[in-house]
Amino acid sequence: MKVLVTGGAGFIGSNFVLRTRQTRPDWELTVLDALTYAGNRDSLAAVEDDLTFVEGSVADEALVDRLVADTDLVVHFAAESHNDNSLDNPWPFMEANIIGTYRLLEAVRKHDKRIHHISTDEVYGDLELDDPHRFTESTPVNPSSPYSASKASADLLVRAWVRSFGLKATLSNCSNNYGPRQHVEKFIPRQVTGILEGVMPKLYGAGANVRDWIHVDDHNDAVVAIVEQGRLGETYLIGADGEQNNREIIALILELMGKPADWFEHVNDRPGHDMRYAIDSGKLRAETGWTPQYQDIRAGLAQTIAWYTDNTDWWSTSRAETEKTYQRLGR
Ligand code: NAD
Ligand code: TYD
Repeated sequence: MKVLVTGGAGFIGSNFVLRTRQTRPDWELTVLDALTYAGNRDSLAAVEDDLTFVEGSVADEALVDRLVADTDLVVHFAAESHNDNSLDNPWPFMEANIIGTYRLLEAVRKHDKRIHHISTDEVYGDLELDDPHRFTESTPVNPSSPYSASKASADLLVRAWVRSFGLKATLSNCSNNYGPRQHVEKFIPRQVTGILEGVMPKLYGAGANVRDWIHVDDHNDAVVAIVEQGRLGETYLIGADGEQNNREIIALILELMGKPADWFEHVNDRPGHDMRYAIDSGKLRAETGWTPQYQDIRAGLAQTIAWYTDNTDWWSTSRAETEKTYQRLGR
């Protein structure tokens, strides 16, 4: 099977490529990635000879048409992915996430191929801390930020193309990922690399916000399960029952890195900061038999910390750039 992986130089996409090289060696992989600030070709160095890499944008109509014509399946990870950036400058999110998805859908329709669209639980808005419910596939979309609104827009385009044109598509909405090769702008790698450089972790506001953490390999195994066993036209929520608030995550990182429990500082909160995300992944588990391998966030975080400790060259330049932006934002 020929598989076009968009965004394959980013965090989740590169881990998808590395993992499927092991688990699905018969797949012929092409990566399409614009190599924005978030893309890093070094993430693919170990498998560079075993794939085709194309530098370009999913919003480039002619390029997308040509690549989709020559594939069986598109796995669509490419996106602008950071909430804080979307609050600072929304336009790149509209172009990559909405127009880029539209271009792919039109090419997949024209050439009668299949697409799996990767999305986020953030499209559902947020939950109160004491809400007994979790997100399910029937939760209405209610996004809060330009990032989550652009992802919800893309999801709705995919669903419309399924309904109106019979497009062969599946969708998944996953909770917060952690693991190796995540950009240092994100919560966990920002704190881990900060501590490695002697900088205190930075907690937005009071830090009571809850995220439903999942290891990136578990996310990607679920994507493979959906591609192979999911029903066309369906949406699947991916989550590993990993709810933790931000204070708890910082406490765990400090403990694992041998720092005192109070060695962190509060910084300005993010405007419109979603309080809690929580996923009910019952449909995915019932239909595909998928279960997460990383049941213990402590073990997953220890593995992630070890990766950042061993790969300072991968992150040190982008950390310096990223911290300049955070400094400007007062975060
Ligand atoms: P990332 O920012 O690490 O990587 C995004 C990749 O897409 C980068 O390599 C970048 O160069 C590329 N890209 C950006 N714009 C592009 C364009 N116009 N054309 C081609 N490539 C482009 O993001 P990530 O965390 O790996 O997220 C991947 C996908 O998973 C996104 O669709 C995101 O919405 C979704 N998602 C992320 C999480 C999470 O916790 N990180 C959770 C659920 C869903
Ligand atoms: P983030 O990794 O940006 O993911 P998302 O906003 O998509 O959930 O942030 C995760 C949580 O961590 C979120 O509640 C914001 C918070 N946060 C901090 O407390 N400090 C930080 O330095 C960052 C980057 C995030």
